[in-house]
Amino acid sequence: MTRRRAAGVAILLALALPASRAAAQAPPGAPTPARADTTLPRVLVIATGGTIAGVQDAPGTLGGYRAGTLTAEQLVAGVPELARHARVEAEQFSNVASTSITPAMWVGLARRINAVLRERPELAGVVVTHGTDRLEETAFFLYLAVRSDKPVAVVGAQRPATGISPDGPMNLLSAVRTVASPQATGKGVLVVMDERILSAREVRKQYQRVGGFDGGEMGMLGVVTAGGPEFYFAPTRRRGAASEFDLAGVDSLPRVELVYSYPGGTGPTFATPPVGVVVTTTGFAPTEAAAFRALREQGVVLVTAFPSGDNATGAPRTGGGGAPPRPDSAAAPAAAPSRPLAPSIAAQHLTPQKARILLMLALTHTRDGRELQRIFREY
Ligand code: SIN
Repeated sequence: MTRRRAAGVAILLALALPASRAAAQAPPGAPTPARADTTLPRVLVIATGGTIAGVQDAPGTLGGYRAGTLTAEQLVAGVPELARHARVEAEQFSNVASTSITPAMWVGLARRINAVLRERPELAGVVVTHGTDRLEETAFFLYLAVRSDKPVAVVGAQRPATGISPDGPMNLLSAVRTVASPQATGKGVLVVMDERILSAREVRKQYQRVGGFDGGEMGMLGVVTAGGPEFYFAPTRRRGAASEFDLAGVDSLPRVELVYSYPGGTGPTFATPPVGVVVTTTGFAPTEAAAFRALREQGVVLVTAFPSGDNATGAPRTGGGGAPPRPDSAAAPAAAPSRPLAPSIAAQHLTPQKARILLMLALTHTRDGRELQRIFREY
């Protein structure tokens, strides 16, 4: 075994230690974690993988790592301070990089959370650990499909567990403290990163560094301080127990593609048309408008969404609210369609990747244009 690998194994073992042993090895002067206090709220941590569970070949360096390596139990055991704030249970859902999370896994995860919150009233809430690359998509799916007002928080890390100054332990502690707080009830699914409490509807990963998650102008609900979570705002859009999206009869989600509109574009073509398309746009060239109309003639539901923003500055191009343009406004007056056109819906202040998720769920209910637009107005 190389020296580096041996060090890695040692760190892993330390992370896997039960809280009591970890506490016994804590640095001199460090506070001793409380024994499981039976009056503390119960929180379930469901782990899916990601950098928060990432381990390097060369721990303590800036070197690469394998996301989704530590188990749920190891993640929890690695933060003995959790025991002061909650009785934490750990469950493994998957252990993958978030680029491997699929829509079928969203359905499975939402069903699992719905089931535990229904069957275990003693649970205060659920924390989901997740890779940051696709965290905002999973969080928004849960925001729509977890039909409970009990708190659910999604959390990740931008540095691996064995890295220098890992952010995962603090993020996990903040997330557990947040869902253990009665203040978090009814706020919809939350993302807790870098001591910020963000609504899953608005959260975006703006950059690949600690501090890279924000809620834009509309999504920061509060902060987690040394004294605990402090909420200042609550979302008003439909969510949680008021959600109409029941996954009971849903085994798979309809295929919805995400495409871009751009100067000189000619629109997408598909060998097999999907059920829906979300197009990211600031307006349509006439050539594109004709292509999107042809798709609607084939029965493909169209949703237009503004670009989700500039990754470097965090400044949305036009995503501050209002309705994105629809292709019809750019098309020359067309001949009567050969068949009724499928609906064209404006996403209203939702990033394209989230508009796609809402459309996937909405299409499990309806293909009616008015109903689809209502759903996009309400959620
Ligand atoms: C991932 O998304 O699984 C890897 C990247 C990360 O968690 O930051």
